[in-house]
Amino acid sequence: MTSRILPGTDPQAIEQAAQALKQGKLVAIPTETVYGLGADADQDTACHAIFTAKGRPADHPLIVHISQLEAAKHYAQELPEFALKLIEAYWPGPLTLILQRKPSIADAAAGHQKTIGLRCPSHPVAQALLKAFETLGGHGIAAPSANRFGRTSPTTAQHVQDAFADLSPSPIALILDGGASDVGIESTIVDCSRSKPVLLRPGIYTPAELEATAGVPLLIHADVHVDDPKAPGTLSAHYAPKAKVRLMAAEDLKIAAGMLAAASPANNARIGIYAQHLPKVKKASHIILRQMPGNAKDAAHELFSALHDFDAQGVSLLWVETPPDGPEWIGVRDRLQRAASS
Ligand code: TXA
Ligand code: MG
Repeated sequence: MTSRILPGTDPQAIEQAAQALKQGKLVAIPTETVYGLGADADQDTACHAIFTAKGRPADHPLIVHISQLEAAKHYAQELPEFALKLIEAYWPGPLTLILQRKPSIADAAAGHQKTIGLRCPSHPVAQALLKAFETLGGHGIAAPSANRFGRTSPTTAQHVQDAFADLSPSPIALILDGGASDVGIESTIVDCSRSKPVLLRPGIYTPAELEATAGVPLLIHADVHVDDPKAPGTLSAHYAPKAKVRLMAAEDLKIAAGMLAAASPANNARIGIYAQHLPKVKKASHIILRQMPGNAKDAAHELFSALHDFDAQGVSLLWVETPPDGPEWIGVRDRLQRAASS
C-alpha cells in the first residue's frame, strides 16, 4: 500500500506532518541531502518503528535533525570548541556531528550508544516542519535515509513511496514532497565525541576544508582504531541498487563494452554503463548508456537518482567508470565503492 505524498510547500501539510510526528507516527521528509524517514526523537516507540520499517538492526544509531544550534543542547552533553567551529561554518547544511549524549535522552534514536548524531538541515521544508514540531513541544526528528536497509537512498518523494510500496499497511503516515534533493548524497559525518574530530562518512566537503574549519587535525575513520558503534553508512556493502555494480577504469570499460556489443545477451539481461567517458558502442537494446557529470557536485546530485533509474529500466549489471581521484570526489567515490561491494 502506498503512502500519500503531500506538497511540502503547503502549510497545512506541514502542520499535519508535525501532528503525526507528535502522535508517534512516521513521516518521510525532504532534506537537501536525501529524504529521511522521520519520527519524534524523544519517543522510543516511534523510533523503534523506523528500525522495523527499514529492516535496520536496532543498535544502528539514527541522526537527529534539529532546527538550530539551541536545540542541540537538549540532546548533547557538551560541544567541544572544534565542533562549534564546524557548526558555525556548515549549519544549517549537510554536516552531522556525533556528540556525547545526555544519558536520559533519545536512547532508542541513538541506538543505545552513549553518543548522538545531530544535524541541522537547510532544506526549507525540513526547517518548516522542525519549527512546527517545536511549536507542539517537540525537539528533534530522528531520521535515517528513507530507504530499506542496505538499498539506494531516496532523493525524491517518489523514490520513498516506491521503496515502501510493498508494505501493508504502510508504515509511513505521509510523505512530504520537497522536490529533488539538491546535494544528492548523505551528510558528512564528523565524530566530535572524542578529543579530536574523526571523519566517519565523507559527503560533499573535502577533508582539507573540514580540517581548516575545525582548526585541529581531522582523523579519518579508516585510519583510526576506535570501538565503533555500528554505522550502516560505514559498512562496506551499502547503497546497493538491484543491479550488480562493477567499478572500472575508463580503458577497461571501453574494452568490456566492445565485447558486450558483439555478444547477444543471455536471458534478455540488460547492462547499464554509467561513465564520464562513455565508450562508443553500437546501439543495442540490451545496453543502456548514461553519462556521468564531469564535476563532483553535479555527479553527487544525480548519483542515487541515476541508480534508481537504472533499476527502473531493468538493468541487472551496471558498469560504472571509477570517478576521478580529486578530493572533491570523496563522497561519490565512497558511495559507489560501497554500492559495488555487495
Ligand atoms: O544526509 C543524511 O545524513 C541523511 C538525511 C536524512 O539527513 N540521513 C542519513 O541517515 O544518512 P542514515 O541513518 O542513513 O545514516 C546515518 C549514519 C549511519 O552511518 C549511522 O551509523 C551514523 O549516521 N550515526 C548516527 N548516530 C551515530 C552515533 N551516535 N555514532 C556513530 N555513528 C552514528
Ligand atoms: Mg542510509
